[in-house]
Amino acid sequence: MANKLRLEGKVAVITGGASGIGEATARLFVEHGAQVVIADIQDELALQVVSSIGSDNVCYRRCDVTDEKQVDETVAFAVQKYGTLDIMFSNAGILGSSGSLLEMDMAVFDRIMAVNTRGAALAVKHAAKVMVAKKIRGSIICTASVESILAGAASLAYIASKHAVLGVVKAAARELGQHGIRVNCVSPFGVATPMVCKSFGADAAAMEAVICGNANLKGVSLTTMHIAEAALFLASDESAYISAHNLAIDGGLSSIMKINVN
Ligand SMILES: NC(=O)c1ccc[n+]([C@@H]2O[C@H](COP(=O)([O-])OP(=O)(O)OC[C@H]3O[C@@H](n4cnc5c(N)ncnc54)[C@H](O)[C@@H]3O)[C@@H](O)[C@H]2O)c1
Repeated sequence: MANKLRLEGKVAVITGGASGIGEATARLFVEHGAQVVIADIQDELALQVVSSIGSDNVCYRRCDVTDEKQVDETVAFAVQKYGTLDIMFSNAGILGSSGSLLEMDMAVFDRIMAVNTRGAALAVKHAAKVMVAKKIRGSIICTASVESILAGAASLAYIASKHAVLGVVKAAARELGQHGIRVNCVSPFGVATPMVCKSFGADAAAMEAVICGNANLKGVSLTTMHIAEAALFLASDESAYISAHNLAIDGGLSSIMKINVN
């Protein structure tokens, strides 16, 4: 498997591809033969990622996922530049801090929903439109979170937004199955990406220690590459009959209730 190019000839858009999970996935997809459009709002960082990948098979397009026109135009750009669209990885997201329930800031709530849920719905919608029109049996993947399954450490708004991403994925998979288009999500536990470190005001090493302390699976730290590998599997033909699936990358955490019997 190691030497096989698992996405040869495929074209992907990755939202939130300038940093963290999206960046790792962009690198891995290009390594596996895909042509990738990184869609993000961090121009400078995204251009650094593109130049460090150093391939004609990756480029950057500014795209704020809260703006439907920009999402539509980004999908059209990918098709125009690389000829098709086989994979949409809707990964852009924010953690935000809407506060505890009783003091919840509804403007922050709206912003988290706009980026995480509405942004995912737009990415799925516009990718699907092109795939259906061009009869492409594509793969759409969203980054949800363990917070799509349980209420962990994040705010109510974030948890609600990620549960709703799972709803978007299931409903889209239902509608798109007839076209041979698969829709799935990846649901990671914590990774010390810029989003998380900034929110908790901690450096990567301190954040990783906190995450590992709360993990179920010991002896391994979750990295962006583990999530990229899961996205690669869902993007590739190896997952040809998998749709509407929420692939938890959480070392079992979301399925386990720890009870101290002593
Ligand atoms: N890091 C974790 O612990 C963790 C766990 C579960 C799920 N996730 C999810 O993974 C995804 C990626 O997050 P990450 O941890 O890699 O964080 P990150 O901050 O490193 O990357 C997120 C990227 O999304 C981009 N982005 C934010 N708002 C955008 C917008 N409106 N339009 C376009 N791009 C936008 C950012 O510029 C950034 O490049 C998010 O959806 C996040 O909710 C992260």
